[in-house]
Amino acid sequence: MTVLRGVGVTHRFGAATVLSDVDVVVAAGELLAVTGPSGSGKSTLLHCLAGILRPAQGEVWLGGDRIDGWSEARRTALRGTRLGFVFQSGQLLPELPAVENAALPLLLGGVRRAEAVERAAAWFGPLGLDGLQDRRPGQLSGGQEQRVAIARALVTSPDVVFADEPTGALDTATGARIMALLRDVVARTGTAVVVVTHDAEVAGACHRTLALRDGRTLPPHPPPPLQEGHVPATSLREGGLPATPGGRWGA
Ligand SMILES: Nc1ncnc2c1ncn2[C@@H]1O[C@H](COP(=O)(O)OP(=O)(O)OP(=O)(O)O)[C@@H](O)[C@H]1O
Ligand SMILES: [Mg+2]
Repeated sequence: MTVLRGVGVTHRFGAATVLSDVDVVVAAGELLAVTGPSGSGKSTLLHCLAGILRPAQGEVWLGGDRIDGWSEARRTALRGTRLGFVFQSGQLLPELPAVENAALPLLLGGVRRAEAVERAAAWFGPLGLDGLQDRRPGQLSGGQEQRVAIARALVTSPDVVFADEPTGALDTATGARIMALLRDVVARTGTAVVVVTHDAEVAGACHRTLALRDGRTLPPHPPPPLQEGHVPATSLREGGLPATPGGRWGA
């Protein structure tokens, strides 16, 4: 089932076209990697798909709703309910303890404080943040802050989570744990995840990769032909999900 679809998404900053005619389809329970060199338009694409930017041309569909024409207020409201977003940096409120930062979308949505905090705290263990609930962002490492931001994106059980380099501040082992957690979350809940990454291992942990160059999508690499007795790597991975149609294209 398609949860998110971008059709011919095009965006300009002034006279510069930074995204050209990008098509993207994401299914429920799918982890999609977006890769490409710095400046290739990855963040801009995420912002267009998440309703943060309104594309100059093209369509963005969330389920059966075409959201690109919605007002700023309506698009913002989506990010407290049906969409979660992990920004590249600087996203926690410094005066709030970590658990309240993670609970923020629920608190803003009118969920009772005790329930909101409880639901947010439930993500701390799986994200390797045990015991850090009451720390302020200034008392956390960059990687811990990033994981609190991931908790905040997941806390509303949204249809789609967008994550812009969510493992950028993490060591390889912690990054791998977070990707395993995200694979588990999408498999259990049907949430779709779109993740920007420069890291081949992170892209490899996703079901599919969309590669950008200069604001355009590269054609997907077909997977190498299967040899006799060869088992696709995805089916070997712990907690591996069935390959999506077309298989994994790799970075
Ligand atoms: N607000 C803005 N105003 C003008 N140009 C912008 C703006 N934001 C981004 N750009 C330009 O748009 C292009 C795409 O930027 P974008 O942030 O999407 O790249 P990216 O692929 O996310 O790069 P990185 O890997 O460095 O995060 C770049 O050339 C950038 O300089
Ligand atoms: Mg970026």
